[in-house]
Amino acid sequence: MDSKILIIGSSGQIGTELVLSLRKIYGNENVIASDIRKGNYEVMESGPFEFLDVTNKSEIQKIIEKHQVKEVYLMVAILSVIAEQNPKMAWDLNMSALFNVLDLAKEGQIKKIFWPSSIAVFGPDTPKYNTPQDTIIKPSTVYGISKQAGENWCAYYSNKYDVDVRSLRYPGLISYKTTPGGGTTDYAVEIFYEAIKRKSYTSFLSENTVLPMMYMDDAINATIGLMQKERNSGYVSYNVGSLSFSPAQLAEAIKKRIPEFTISYKPDARQEIANSWPQSVDDSVARKNWGWQPKVDLDEMVRIMLLGLHYTI
Ligand code: SER
Repeated sequence: MDSKILIIGSSGQIGTELVLSLRKIYGNENVIASDIRKGNYEVMESGPFEFLDVTNKSEIQKIIEKHQVKEVYLMVAILSVIAEQNPKMAWDLNMSALFNVLDLAKEGQIKKIFWPSSIAVFGPDTPKYNTPQDTIIKPSTVYGISKQAGENWCAYYSNKYDVDVRSLRYPGLISYKTTPGGGTTDYAVEIFYEAIKRKSYTSFLSENTVLPMMYMDDAINATIGLMQKERNSGYVSYNVGSLSFSPAQLAEAIKKRIPEFTISYKPDARQEIANSWPQSVDDSVARKNWGWQPKVDLDEMVRIMLLGLHYTI
């Protein structure tokens, strides 16, 4: 392979699984993992790893030159909850990471970028159900504002400088290899750890708070699938739907496999963030433009999570 791939943020929830999947497809040596902290054993042992501070453009550049990188997946971000606590820090990190990578592409040093957006771009004025691809985008969170601005900057670099940048609006992502951190949808991962350990969970979102969610394998397939497509004209950050459920519905699905499991509710500040997001998204544009199709439903997701976390009946 003459063009290598760099994952920035390879120790995070999505980065970890992206590295492992891309290494399976393109070969271990062709996928460079990088992060400010070490990743899990599998990532560290299966191929190249570089320590990288994404806010330092010349550090990124050095790694790109060293490994002859042509494609970058930028998986670094401060998520919704932490961003509310540190607005300026979140804005600075989320935006400087994006600008550094966009500028490297503008300068011709890399050819293709993946940058994730989020359902957090939507706000309280956005239609809540089947949220269209193009709709009111007025986020009420710091994280959402950084994603909205990011989408606009990606479109600008694509139009103005012909940068090939691709993007998905991820829903809450559920996985067991690496825990998420600082997000509003994190309850849907925490619940599995607590269900196994204590057979009970106290949800920080209320019983009937429905949010768009997705099992990690579907998110990885969507990401790699989009990157493998021929370049379409123009930048789109695609809605990708899969599951939509509330804490109560997830608890029901867990109960089918752990009958003694109980859930209680103690909504905190994160409820307000969740209330500003859609319950489900219309992803027909992604389905039509590049054949997006999720595979894992709620029951299957629960089965995989319990198995992955070594739950034995
Ligand atoms: N999972 C993210 C969060 O909760 C949403 O993109 O912040």
